[in-house]
Amino acid sequence: MQIATAAEAGTLIRRLQEGVWQLAALAVALNDDPGRDAEQKRQAQQVLVELGLMSETSGGVVPAAGLAEIVNSGSVDIAAVSAANILQTAGMLSGAAAWASQNDEALLAQGRGSAQAAAAFKMFGLPMLEGLGDLFDGESPQMLDVGVGVGAMAVAYCRTFPGLRVVGLDVLPRALELARRQVGEAGLAERIELRQQDVASLEDDRTYALAWLPAPFVPRPALEAGLPRLAKALVPGGWLMMAHGKLHDDPLQNALSRFQTTVYGGAAVDEDEAQALLRGVGLEQVLSPPTPEGAPAITVGRRPGGPTGAGAA
Ligand SMILES: C[S@@+](CC[C@H](N)C(=O)[O-])C[C@H]1O[C@@H](n2cnc3c(N)ncnc32)[C@H](O)[C@@H]1O
Repeated sequence: MQIATAAEAGTLIRRLQEGVWQLAALAVALNDDPGRDAEQKRQAQQVLVELGLMSETSGGVVPAAGLAEIVNSGSVDIAAVSAANILQTAGMLSGAAAWASQNDEALLAQGRGSAQAAAAFKMFGLPMLEGLGDLFDGESPQMLDVGVGVGAMAVAYCRTFPGLRVVGLDVLPRALELARRQVGEAGLAERIELRQQDVASLEDDRTYALAWLPAPFVPRPALEAGLPRLAKALVPGGWLMMAHGKLHDDPLQNALSRFQTTVYGGAAVDEDEAQALLRGVGLEQVLSPPTPEGAPAITVGRRPGGPTGAGAA
């Protein structure tokens, strides 16, 4: 659809500009940082009241039913994800061409957003992946977190699975510095090993029950060099879980997803390619389960040789 008149174009552009401020209001209204300016938060909540996301009650402004359902599900930290969207785009516009140039607040907000993945994985992922429950219940199970960032997701996995140890790799020293602080504050330094290492140079063998790989953040050469190493680093029967861009029916969403990947500096991989890549390094039981609206697509594959059959599920 083409927009033919200046008036229509102007209306659309104003709506886009207001949208950024509305998203900022959402990030502020739901942020529970006690240091936040109270008047700013009150006005942000008023914006959400007008959007129908919050409502005025005798006890103050509270999330309306739809928003309350999302907040209470605990599946996503809306304030953190909204802030991450704004901070990342702002970082890019101020000249930070790549992920590595994002400021600390953007890295921390992205981390807080990705930490939600652990609870979702426990509820939906683990029961679906044959044999992984047994590996997690076995002796000293380990997970590899490629692109550990500021460590928020690694901390969340350790809290969700008390027997798990995590090895986190990242190429960005500043992220690892923040990760070291977060892991220390969480009291998890004994269970989370942080390494400044490119996945392309991974040398571990038969070590991990689960490996996480976020393709939109990992440049294509590192992704392609890293995949066979990741397959080798899994224990027999272990699973690789690769996050990647989602193909939508909507061409605008596809264009946005490809644009975001250029900002993240990683590889634009769709579901068909993700499955081919995992099969290409010898993984089996490759599939791309549906993920919730707004979450990245995920493709999983299992290293052959693990126990199979009824007792293994
Ligand atoms: C979205 S961030 C991860 C956020 C993380 N889950 C957290 O809790 O903070 C993705 C990370 O992948 C890292 N990365 C990019 N290419 C990599 C590579 N080749 N090897 C290891 N890490 C890489 C980036 O530096 C970035 O910190």
